Amino acid sequence: MELRHLRYFVAVAEEKSFNKAAERLYISQPPLSRQIKQLEEEVGVMLIDRDNRPLKLTEAGEFFYDHAVQILAKSDKLKSMTMRKANFDNSISIGFVSSILYGILPKIIARFRACYPNIEIKLQELNSWEQTQALTEGKIDVGFGRMLFEDASIRRILLREESLVVAVPKDHDLAKEQSRVVSLMDLTNEKLILYPTGPRPSFIDYVLELFEFRNLKANYFTEVRELHVALGLVAAGEGLTIVPKTLEHLRSQEVIYIPFENDLLTSPIIMSVRHFDKSELLKTLLEVTYQFYDIEGFDYKPEQI
Ligand code: BEZ
Repeated sequence: MELRHLRYFVAVAEEKSFNKAAERLYISQPPLSRQIKQLEEEVGVMLIDRDNRPLKLTEAGEFFYDHAVQILAKSDKLKSMTMRKANFDNSISIGFVSSILYGILPKIIARFRACYPNIEIKLQELNSWEQTQALTEGKIDVGFGRMLFEDASIRRILLREESLVVAVPKDHDLAKEQSRVVSLMDLTNEKLILYPTGPRPSFIDYVLELFEFRNLKANYFTEVRELHVALGLVAAGEGLTIVPKTLEHLRSQEVIYIPFENDLLTSPIIMSVRHFDKSELLKTLLEVTYQFYDIEGFDYKPEQI
Protein backbone atom coordinates (compact mmCIF):
# COMPACT_ATOMS: atom_id res chain seq x y z
CA MET A 1 0.00 0.00 0.00
CA GLU A 2 1.38 3.39 -0.97
CA LEU A 3 0.55 6.92 0.18
CA ARG A 4 -0.92 7.47 -3.30
CA HIS A 5 -3.57 4.82 -2.56
CA LEU A 6 -4.49 6.59 0.65
CA ARG A 7 -4.81 9.94 -1.15
CA TYR A 8 -7.05 8.39 -3.79
CA PHE A 9 -9.23 6.67 -1.21
CA VAL A 10 -9.59 9.84 0.90
CA ALA A 11 -10.62 11.82 -2.20
CA VAL A 12 -13.33 9.26 -3.08
CA ALA A 13 -14.53 9.13 0.53
CA GLU A 14 -14.79 12.91 0.75
CA GLU A 15 -16.30 13.53 -2.68
CA LYS A 16 -18.64 10.49 -2.38
CA SER A 17 -18.19 9.97 -6.13
CA PHE A 18 -15.47 8.43 -8.32
CA ASN A 19 -16.02 11.09 -11.00
CA LYS A 20 -15.67 14.05 -8.65
CA ALA A 21 -12.67 12.47 -6.89
CA ALA A 22 -10.98 11.88 -10.27
CA GLU A 23 -11.51 15.57 -11.13
CA ARG A 24 -10.06 16.64 -7.77
CA LEU A 25 -7.02 14.43 -8.33
CA TYR A 26 -6.58 15.47 -12.00
CA ILE A 27 -6.71 11.87 -13.22
CA SER A 28 -9.35 10.03 -15.21
CA GLN A 29 -11.94 7.88 -13.55
CA PRO A 30 -11.05 4.32 -14.77
CA PRO A 31 -7.50 4.28 -13.30
CA LEU A 32 -8.87 5.74 -10.06
CA SER A 33 -11.45 2.95 -9.79
CA ARG A 34 -8.71 0.37 -10.54
CA GLN A 35 -6.46 1.80 -7.80
CA ILE A 36 -9.27 1.68 -5.22
CA LYS A 37 -10.07 -1.91 -6.23
CA GLN A 38 -6.39 -2.86 -5.82
CA LEU A 39 -6.40 -1.20 -2.39
CA GLU A 40 -9.48 -3.18 -1.33
CA GLU A 41 -7.87 -6.40 -2.55
CA GLU A 42 -4.73 -5.62 -0.60
CA VAL A 43 -6.59 -4.75 2.61
CA GLY A 44 -8.89 -7.72 2.05
CA VAL A 45 -12.21 -5.93 2.72
CA MET A 46 -14.67 -3.75 0.85
CA LEU A 47 -14.11 -0.11 1.83
CA ILE A 48 -16.76 1.51 -0.35
CA ASP A 49 -20.38 0.47 -0.72
CA ARG A 50 -20.90 1.03 -4.46
CA ASP A 51 -24.65 0.27 -4.38
CA ASN A 52 -25.39 3.69 -2.92
CA ARG A 53 -25.49 7.05 -4.72
CA PRO A 54 -23.84 9.17 -3.42
CA LEU A 55 -21.25 6.54 -2.53
CA LYS A 56 -21.02 5.45 1.11
CA LEU A 57 -18.15 3.97 3.07
CA THR A 58 -18.56 0.57 4.68
CA GLU A 59 -17.89 0.38 8.42
CA ALA A 60 -14.37 -0.85 7.65
CA GLY A 61 -14.07 1.99 5.13
CA GLU A 62 -14.94 4.58 7.82
CA PHE A 63 -12.26 3.11 10.07
CA PHE A 64 -9.72 3.07 7.22
CA TYR A 65 -10.64 6.69 6.30
CA ASP A 66 -9.96 8.03 9.84
CA HIS A 67 -6.53 6.40 9.90
CA ALA A 68 -5.67 7.32 6.30
CA VAL A 69 -6.35 11.01 7.04
CA GLN A 70 -4.02 10.87 10.03
CA ILE A 71 -1.25 9.15 8.08
CA LEU A 72 -1.49 11.69 5.25
CA ALA A 73 -1.40 14.60 7.72
CA LYS A 74 1.69 13.07 9.34
CA SER A 75 3.42 12.65 5.99
CA ASP A 76 2.65 16.30 5.06
CA LYS A 77 4.08 17.40 8.41
CA LEU A 78 7.19 15.33 7.85
CA LYS A 79 7.69 16.99 4.45
CA SER A 80 7.39 20.57 5.76
CA MET A 81 9.51 19.85 8.84
CA THR A 82 12.27 18.30 6.71
CA MET A 83 12.21 21.18 4.24
CA ARG A 84 12.63 23.62 7.13
CA LYS A 85 15.48 21.54 8.54
CA ALA A 86 17.32 21.74 5.24
CA ASN A 87 17.26 25.58 5.42
CA PHE A 88 18.31 25.61 9.02
CA ASP A 89 22.03 26.21 8.48
CA ASN A 90 21.82 29.92 7.80
CA SER A 91 18.74 31.01 9.72
CA ILE A 92 16.75 30.20 12.83
CA SER A 93 13.16 31.16 13.49
CA ILE A 94 12.15 31.54 17.14
CA GLY A 95 8.58 31.74 18.46
CA PHE A 96 7.91 33.18 21.90
CA VAL A 97 4.94 34.11 24.08
CA SER A 98 4.80 37.82 24.86
CA SER A 99 5.24 37.47 28.65
CA ILE A 100 8.66 35.88 28.09
CA LEU A 101 9.92 38.99 26.34
CA TYR A 102 10.04 40.95 29.62
CA GLY A 103 12.59 38.62 31.17
CA ILE A 104 15.91 37.33 29.88
CA LEU A 105 14.89 36.55 26.29
CA PRO A 106 16.47 39.74 24.85
CA LYS A 107 19.76 38.92 26.61
CA ILE A 108 19.65 35.31 25.39
CA ILE A 109 19.11 36.46 21.81
CA ALA A 110 21.90 39.03 22.02
CA ARG A 111 24.39 36.42 23.23
CA PHE A 112 23.21 33.86 20.71
CA ARG A 113 23.64 36.46 17.93
CA ALA A 114 27.20 37.07 19.12
CA CYS A 115 27.91 33.31 18.80
CA TYR A 116 26.52 33.22 15.23
CA PRO A 117 26.96 36.67 13.69
CA ASN A 118 26.19 35.36 10.19
CA ILE A 119 22.97 33.57 11.04
CA GLU A 120 19.67 35.30 10.36
CA ILE A 121 17.50 35.23 13.51
CA LYS A 122 13.77 35.67 13.05
CA LEU A 123 11.58 36.31 16.10
CA GLN A 124 7.84 35.81 16.06
CA GLU A 125 5.35 36.41 18.84
CA LEU A 126 3.14 33.30 18.93
CA ASN A 127 1.08 31.82 21.73
CA SER A 128 1.96 28.31 22.91
CA TRP A 129 -0.67 26.65 20.72
CA GLU A 130 0.45 28.56 17.63
CA GLN A 131 4.04 27.53 18.37
CA THR A 132 3.09 23.84 18.19
CA GLN A 133 1.44 24.40 14.81
CA ALA A 134 4.30 26.54 13.49
CA LEU A 135 6.88 23.90 14.50
CA THR A 136 5.07 21.09 12.72
CA GLU A 137 4.53 23.27 9.65
CA GLY A 138 8.23 24.17 9.59
CA LYS A 139 7.55 27.89 10.16
CA ILE A 140 9.65 28.12 13.33
CA ASP A 141 12.51 25.99 14.67
CA VAL A 142 12.03 26.54 18.37
CA GLY A 143 9.32 27.96 20.60
CA PHE A 144 9.44 29.39 24.10
CA GLY A 145 6.01 29.09 25.72
CA ARG A 146 4.12 28.45 28.93
CA MET A 147 1.43 25.91 28.06
CA LEU A 148 1.79 22.26 27.06
CA PHE A 149 0.04 21.19 23.87
CA GLU A 150 0.77 17.53 23.23
CA ASP A 151 1.94 16.60 19.75
CA ALA A 152 3.92 13.45 19.07
CA SER A 153 6.30 15.25 16.71
CA ILE A 154 7.27 17.91 19.26
CA ARG A 155 9.74 17.61 22.12
CA ARG A 156 9.11 19.76 25.20
CA ILE A 157 11.95 20.79 27.45
CA LEU A 158 10.84 22.21 30.79
CA LEU A 159 13.34 25.03 31.34
CA ARG A 160 12.18 26.19 34.74
CA GLU A 161 9.17 27.02 36.88
CA GLU A 162 8.74 30.77 37.25
CA SER A 163 7.06 32.16 40.37
CA LEU A 164 3.74 33.93 39.92
CA VAL A 165 2.89 37.15 41.75
CA VAL A 166 -0.32 39.12 42.26
CA ALA A 167 -0.55 42.61 40.79
CA VAL A 168 -2.69 44.90 42.96
CA PRO A 169 -3.41 48.66 42.83
CA LYS A 170 -1.12 50.63 45.16
CA ASP A 171 -3.96 51.62 47.49
CA HIS A 172 -5.51 48.14 47.77
CA ASP A 173 -5.83 46.64 51.28
CA LEU A 174 -3.60 43.69 50.33
CA ALA A 175 -0.84 46.14 49.37
CA LYS A 176 -1.00 47.75 52.81
CA GLU A 177 -0.53 44.56 54.79
CA GLN A 178 2.80 44.25 56.54
CA SER A 179 3.48 40.64 55.61
CA ARG A 180 2.93 41.28 51.88
CA VAL A 181 2.31 37.67 50.89
CA VAL A 182 -0.96 36.29 49.56
CA SER A 183 -2.59 32.90 49.09
CA LEU A 184 -5.13 31.91 46.44
CA MET A 185 -7.68 31.77 49.26
CA ASP A 186 -7.19 35.55 49.72
CA LEU A 187 -8.16 36.06 46.07
CA THR A 188 -11.38 34.02 45.93
CA ASN A 189 -13.58 37.07 46.57
CA GLU A 190 -11.44 39.66 44.80
CA LYS A 191 -12.22 41.01 41.33
CA LEU A 192 -9.70 39.22 39.12
CA ILE A 193 -8.75 40.34 35.63
CA LEU A 194 -7.56 37.32 33.67
CA TYR A 195 -5.94 37.12 30.19
CA PRO A 196 -5.64 36.26 27.31
CA THR A 197 -9.13 35.53 26.00
CA GLY A 198 -7.97 33.36 23.13
CA PRO A 199 -7.06 30.91 21.86
CA ARG A 200 -8.11 28.52 24.62
CA PRO A 201 -6.89 26.86 26.71
CA SER A 202 -4.87 29.92 27.74
CA PHE A 203 -3.28 31.36 30.88
CA ILE A 204 -6.87 32.07 32.05
CA ASP A 205 -7.58 28.33 32.21
CA TYR A 206 -4.23 27.70 33.87
CA VAL A 207 -5.07 30.20 36.64
CA LEU A 208 -8.61 28.84 37.10
CA GLU A 209 -7.17 25.34 37.40
CA LEU A 210 -4.82 26.55 40.13
CA PHE A 211 -7.94 27.47 42.11
CA GLU A 212 -9.84 24.25 41.27
CA PHE A 213 -6.86 22.11 42.15
CA ARG A 214 -7.08 23.50 45.70
CA ASN A 215 -10.87 23.16 45.83
CA LEU A 216 -11.19 26.93 45.61
CA LYS A 217 -13.15 29.10 43.21
CA ALA A 218 -12.41 32.47 41.67
CA ASN A 219 -15.83 33.97 42.34
CA TYR A 220 -15.47 37.23 40.43
CA PHE A 221 -13.37 37.40 37.33
CA THR A 222 -13.41 39.13 33.98
CA GLU A 223 -11.43 38.11 30.92
CA VAL A 224 -9.45 40.57 28.82
CA ARG A 225 -7.63 40.20 25.53
CA GLU A 226 -4.07 40.54 26.79
CA LEU A 227 -1.69 41.08 29.65
CA HIS A 228 -1.23 44.83 29.08
CA VAL A 229 -4.95 45.43 29.29
CA ALA A 230 -5.08 43.46 32.56
CA LEU A 231 -2.22 45.49 34.07
CA GLY A 232 -3.72 48.76 32.85
CA LEU A 233 -7.01 47.89 34.52
CA VAL A 234 -5.22 46.98 37.75
CA ALA A 235 -3.49 50.38 37.63
CA ALA A 236 -6.94 51.95 37.20
CA GLY A 237 -8.14 50.19 40.35
CA GLU A 238 -10.48 47.79 38.53
CA GLY A 239 -9.21 44.62 40.14
CA LEU A 240 -6.19 42.33 40.58
CA THR A 241 -4.32 40.10 38.19
CA ILE A 242 -1.75 37.31 38.37
CA VAL A 243 1.49 37.61 36.39
CA PRO A 244 4.87 35.87 36.12
CA LYS A 245 7.48 37.43 38.39
CA THR A 246 9.64 38.79 35.54
CA LEU A 247 6.90 41.30 34.82
CA GLU A 248 6.99 42.96 38.20
CA HIS A 249 8.83 46.05 36.97
CA LEU A 250 5.89 47.02 34.71
CA ARG A 251 3.66 49.94 35.80
CA SER A 252 5.61 50.14 39.03
CA GLN A 253 4.24 53.64 39.73
CA GLU A 254 0.67 52.39 40.15
CA VAL A 255 0.91 48.66 40.82
CA ILE A 256 2.34 46.61 43.71
CA TYR A 257 3.39 43.01 43.10
CA ILE A 258 2.84 40.61 45.99
CA PRO A 259 4.38 37.11 46.08
CA PHE A 260 2.37 34.02 46.93
CA GLU A 261 3.08 32.35 50.28
CA ASN A 262 6.23 30.24 49.99
CA ASP A 263 6.46 31.13 46.28
CA LEU A 264 4.03 28.27 45.88
CA LEU A 265 2.44 29.17 42.57
CA THR A 266 4.48 28.95 39.41
CA SER A 267 4.16 28.96 35.64
CA PRO A 268 6.43 26.72 33.55
CA ILE A 269 8.71 28.05 30.83
CA ILE A 270 8.89 25.44 28.10
CA MET A 271 11.20 25.17 25.09
CA SER A 272 9.63 23.23 22.22
CA VAL A 273 11.56 21.77 19.32
CA ARG A 274 10.87 19.16 16.67
CA HIS A 275 11.64 15.67 17.95
CA PHE A 276 15.04 14.37 16.84
CA ASP A 277 16.20 17.84 15.77
CA LYS A 278 19.77 17.86 17.02
CA SER A 279 20.91 21.02 15.29
CA GLU A 280 23.99 22.84 16.58
CA LEU A 281 22.00 26.09 16.71
CA LEU A 282 19.42 24.61 19.07
CA LYS A 283 22.12 23.12 21.30
CA THR A 284 23.78 26.54 21.59
CA LEU A 285 20.47 28.29 22.27
CA LEU A 286 19.80 25.92 25.17
CA GLU A 287 23.35 26.33 26.50
CA VAL A 288 23.08 30.13 26.37
CA THR A 289 19.75 29.93 28.23
CA TYR A 290 21.36 27.87 30.99
CA GLN A 291 24.28 30.32 31.17
CA PHE A 292 21.79 33.08 31.99
CA TYR A 293 20.03 30.84 34.51
CA ASP A 294 23.38 30.47 36.28
CA ILE A 295 23.93 34.23 36.22
CA GLU A 296 20.41 34.96 37.51
CA GLY A 297 20.53 32.13 40.08
CA PHE A 298 17.42 30.39 38.65
CA ASP A 299 16.74 26.77 39.62
CA TYR A 300 16.71 24.35 36.68
CA LYS A 301 17.37 20.75 35.71
CA PRO A 302 19.65 20.80 32.65
CA GLU A 303 18.60 18.77 29.62
CA GLN A 304 20.41 18.13 26.38
CA ILE A 305 19.48 18.44 22.75
C1 BEZ B 1 13.16 32.35 31.04
O1 BEZ B 1 12.75 33.40 31.52
O2 BEZ B 1 13.39 31.35 31.71
C2 BEZ B 1 13.38 32.28 29.55
C3 BEZ B 1 12.95 33.31 28.74
C4 BEZ B 1 13.17 33.23 27.39
C5 BEZ B 1 13.81 32.14 26.83
C6 BEZ B 1 14.22 31.11 27.64
C7 BEZ B 1 14.00 31.18 29.00
